[in-house]
Amino acid sequence: MAPEKIRVGLLGLGIVGGGVARLLLDKKDRLSAYLGAELVLAKAADLEPARAQELGLDDSVFVDDAWPVVEDPEIDLIVETVGGLEPARSLVLAALNHGKGVATANKALLASHGVEIFQAARRHGVGISFEASVGGGIPLVRPLRDSLAANRINSCLGILNGTCNFILSRMTAAGEPFGKVLAEAQAKGYAEADPTFDIEGTDTAHKLAIVAALVTGAQPRLEAVPTEGITGITPLDIGYAGEFGFKIKLLAVLNNQGERVEARVHPALVPHDHPLASVDGAYNALHIDGDWVGQVLLYGKGAGRRPTASAVMGDVLELARDKLAGVPGRVPPLGTQADAGRRLELTPLDEAVCQYYCRFAAQDQPGVLAAIARELGEYGISIEKVTQKGRQDQGPVAIVMLTHTAREASLRRALKQIDALPVIAEPTVVIRVA
Ligand code: HSE
Repeated sequence: MAPEKIRVGLLGLGIVGGGVARLLLDKKDRLSAYLGAELVLAKAADLEPARAQELGLDDSVFVDDAWPVVEDPEIDLIVETVGGLEPARSLVLAALNHGKGVATANKALLASHGVEIFQAARRHGVGISFEASVGGGIPLVRPLRDSLAANRINSCLGILNGTCNFILSRMTAAGEPFGKVLAEAQAKGYAEADPTFDIEGTDTAHKLAIVAALVTGAQPRLEAVPTEGITGITPLDIGYAGEFGFKIKLLAVLNNQGERVEARVHPALVPHDHPLASVDGAYNALHIDGDWVGQVLLYGKGAGRRPTASAVMGDVLELARDKLAGVPGRVPPLGTQADAGRRLELTPLDEAVCQYYCRFAAQDQPGVLAAIARELGEYGISIEKVTQKGRQDQGPVAIVMLTHTAREASLRRALKQIDALPVIAEPTVVIRVA
């Protein structure tokens, strides 16, 4: 009897797809031995034939149209690395409709259409796996989905964008401004030519929406996730935060208290002794707090051809194993509620409670600090630390402050009053403390 085969259809031969193709070819023997069946790259689709040539793909494997691949009855499972929303969404849904499990690295797609895609997979009894969509090569989706399933996950804090982490780490080490470091990151290939999605926090919000779905079983609307990027971060604030004992990181924050769920993306002060403070450069990490397991830190490369392809291949093997065993594929328990399209309701940002770093640009006059403290006091906000930087004959000075925990709405109201004071020269800089 001929040995069993699993035939893979690959959609997209870009950075990630190209990596998947090479990994499948280079490690075919190892992967097949693990599976107990031959794992074959049957078809690979891309609009650019040159990519297939560069990867050394056989002419019989390459096609320039993805549709026949998802419809081909000879293909067992699909890897989607096209990226973006369309045609990726339609191709994934078509593959599921044709009874093929899908591995995808597409975080934008899952963040926007996860519920629809998971429901389609469940309807057709096939798996949908997406380890590479969050944290690149870090095993993170499967731990949240399976290994930690016994836990109630109280919180997740993530550094999930390598571009931002590289930029902030470099600004911290070299004291250089955002624009200069971004240009350097682009020159080194760490940042895209158009880095908007990364530096504005959108990419991190996509990943957080997926993490929130895994933790709570329902997905927030992307528009409902408060998202701030790193373009306003200055070496000045990085320096003052450092003096207070913190690093500034772009964080994905998920606080899960059952009825109240907070999910947001913003720069935050992370204490030097927190595990995330030492995650530097282009690395990613997710810090998880579960009720039985306690604290877990998952760390590794969040992007790049080889780490991301490594994660996709774990998914391929999972889908292939289920196919060989003749069991329904794995689908996270999302969209299974009676009202299956239910979205995760997030607690409004105004109700968040945390500590704040504030930098006031104030005239160096008697009574200014007292005026600021009075306004904060009016709103019940107490000060933990304060320091004034420099003394000038003319122009504002920096008054840098760390508050005790306060409600976001109270802080915003107090700052509105403070920024209207004649002795305040510029809008106050506020950064939350993790
Ligand atoms: N652009 C992302 C990052 C990698 O900089 O981390 C892909 O998710």
